[in-house]
Amino acid sequence: MADGLPSSVSQSPALKSTLPTGFITSYVFFYGAQGVYYLQRKKIIAFLYSTVWTDWSEWSACSVTCNDGFRTRDRNCTDILTNLPDSCIGDYNETGACDVGPIQGVCHSNMSGVCTCDWGYDGNNCELCVGNYTGCYCEYCEDNLIGHDTNCSTPCYNGYASISGGDQCECHENTTLGFWQNDICTGCLTGFILPECLTCDTGQCLPCLG
Ligand SMILES: *[C@@H]1O[C@H](CO)[C@@H](O)[C@H](O)[C@H]1NC(C)=O
Ligand SMILES: *[C@@H]1O[C@H](CO)[C@@H](O)[C@H](O)[C@H]1NC(C)=O
Ligand SMILES: *[C@@H]1O[C@H](CO)[C@@H](O)[C@H](O)[C@H]1NC(C)=O
Ligand SMILES: *[C@@H]1O[C@H](CO)[C@@H](O)[C@H](O)[C@H]1NC(C)=O
Ligand SMILES: *[C@@H]1O[C@H](CO)[C@@H](O)[C@H](O)[C@H]1NC(C)=O
Ligand SMILES: *[C@@H]1O[C@H](CO)[C@@H](O)[C@H](O)[C@H]1NC(C)=O
Repeated sequence: MADGLPSSVSQSPALKSTLPTGFITSYVFFYGAQGVYYLQRKKIIAFLYSTVWTDWSEWSACSVTCNDGFRTRDRNCTDILTNLPDSCIGDYNETGACDVGPIQGVCHSNMSGVCTCDWGYDGNNCELCVGNYTGCYCEYCEDNLIGHDTNCSTPCYNGYASISGGDQCECHENTTLGFWQNDICTGCLTGFILPECLTCDTGQCLPCLG
C-alpha cells in the first residue's frame, strides 16, 4: 500500500460503498486497530465519516453581568461505526466573547430630564459608579479598598473588612495569604519578609507557625 498506510486502508471502496452518501465528504478516514488513519496522496480524496460532531450546545450565560466577558459552548463526538473515543478532529468546547452592555443604573429624572441616580451610581445616565466603587451594580469597592457600606475610602491592601461591608481593616494572617500588619496591611509580621510575607527571614519565624 502506498504512503506507508496500513493494509486496512485497502478496504476503502468496500467500506465506502456500505455507507450512506451523506457520510462522504472531502476527506477519507479509516479506523484500524491503532486508531484513525487518513489517506492522503497529492490531495486528500474523500472522507469516510464514522465520527460526527453533534451540534454545538447553546452558549452559556456571559461570565459577567455588564461590559465584556466570555461564554462557552460545547459539543459531543458520536461514533456511528466504532466505539473509538475521542476520534473527532477538533475541539470539544469553544470560548467566545460577549458584551452585556454597560452598567445600567436607574435614572430618576426630574421635570428637566436631569437624572438622580440610586446610591452608588453616577454619571449623566447613571452609567458609572461613584468614586472607589465598582461592579455591575456598583456593589463592590475597588481593589485594596474596603467600606462599601460607607464610602470605600479605607485602604486595606492585604486584609479584609472585619464586618461585611464595613471599614475596619483586619490583616491576613495565614500560610495562604501571608502574615501582615499595620493599619493598611502593607508590612509583614515580625519574622516574615516582603513581598509576600510568607517567607521567613532566615528561619526566624518558623517557631511562630507552631
Ligand atoms: C453531550 O453529552 C452530555 C452527556 O451525555 C449531555 O449532557 C450534553 O447535553 C451533550 N451536549 C451536546 C451539545 O450534545
Ligand atoms: C473542554 O474540553 C476538554 C476536552 O477536550 C476538557 O478537558 C475541558 O474540561 C473542557 N472545558 C470545559 C470548560 O468544558
Ligand atoms: C432638575 O435637577 C437639576 C439638578 O439637580 C436642577 O438643577 C433642576 O432645577 C431640576 N429641575 C426641575 C424642574 O426640578
Ligand atoms: C467616608 O466615611 C467615613 C465614615 O462615614 C467618614 O469618616 C469619612 O470622612 C468619609 N470619607 C470620605 C472621603 O468621604
Ligand atoms: C477613595 O479612596 C481613597 C483612598 O482611601 C480616598 O482618599 C478617597 O477620598 C476616596 N474617594 C472617594 C470618592 O471616596
Ligand atoms: C486566610 O485568611 C483569610 C482571611 O484573612 C481567609 O479568608 C482565608 O480563608 C484563610 N485561608 C486559609 C487557608 O486559612
